[in-house]
Amino acid sequence: MTTQEILEQIKAAKAATDTVILAHTYQPPEIVDAADITGDSFKLSAAVADLPNKRVVMCGVDFMAETVKILSPDKQVILASPDATCPMATQIDPMRVRAFKQANPNTAVCCYINTTAALKAECDICVTSSSAVKIVSALKEQEILFIPDQNLGRFVAENCPDKTVTVWDGYCPVHNQLTPEDILAIKAEHPHTPVAIHPECKPEVVALCDMAGSTADIIRFAKAQSGNVIIATERGVSEYLNLHEAGDKQYIQVCPHTLTCPDMKMTSLADLLAAVKGEGGKEMKLDETTRLNAKKAIDKMLAYGG
Ligand code: 13P
Ligand code: SF4
Repeated sequence: MTTQEILEQIKAAKAATDTVILAHTYQPPEIVDAADITGDSFKLSAAVADLPNKRVVMCGVDFMAETVKILSPDKQVILASPDATCPMATQIDPMRVRAFKQANPNTAVCCYINTTAALKAECDICVTSSSAVKIVSALKEQEILFIPDQNLGRFVAENCPDKTVTVWDGYCPVHNQLTPEDILAIKAEHPHTPVAIHPECKPEVVALCDMAGSTADIIRFAKAQSGNVIIATERGVSEYLNLHEAGDKQYIQVCPHTLTCPDMKMTSLADLLAAVKGEGGKEMKLDETTRLNAKKAIDKMLAYGG
């Protein structure tokens, strides 16, 4: 089958099965183009609840499809690429969070959305990289435990100086690889070009850049610049910008081989077609107690406006 034929079959299968396709911006460009809704973790998690469709196919990693299922239990939710997972999502055992909360009842446990439903179920509130600073600064608690990403946690701590933020020692194995030398080298190659970076990178790397923010923040910043922009996050973001927002500008990717999330690149158009037809992918199932407890953490995030 040609790419065009697969795309036509996806469109027909979507209508026949009442399916909506969601894709994170880190997905391969042909998957982003085939999706109905694209964006970062926050946009995807906020979009699902109001959708009329009976089925959702998520092109992303497992925690993203779980988040859809948490918020829309009556929909059939399929992860298009069944093995796509985020290593950071399981870097802390839910039972350790439970023990921490019992020992520290006045500390708010705040989890990054890149966590399993079982982990979210043990936490007080969930945040995305778009909303983490805003939400932590608005919490009534003074003491915060931020899990699992130490880099995003330190970024939150720096930007919420009124809070005492303890960070877990997890990290994104993709963003955590970027070094100060990588940034210095690309800045030397492209002097006077602003650098936008994701706060999942190490703080000493973030400190060398002009802005740090979520996928959506980076896209907003990059589009607003009059000239070229250096992009220091997963390479799907610069690919998206160069394909859809370039004009006469160039979005220059830092270390494209390093900043490639292998799990995010697993989805193929054939996987997507099979998932939409009901012949492939992985259906998300959650036990109701876990779902309801995880939903409390996500609902609280949404109540804070993100
Ligand atoms: P955002 O989509 O929230 O920016 O997160 C980046 C990421 O690594 C998703 O897995
Ligand atoms: Fe997980 Fe990092 Fe991949 Fe995002 S880029 S899905 S945080 S491993």
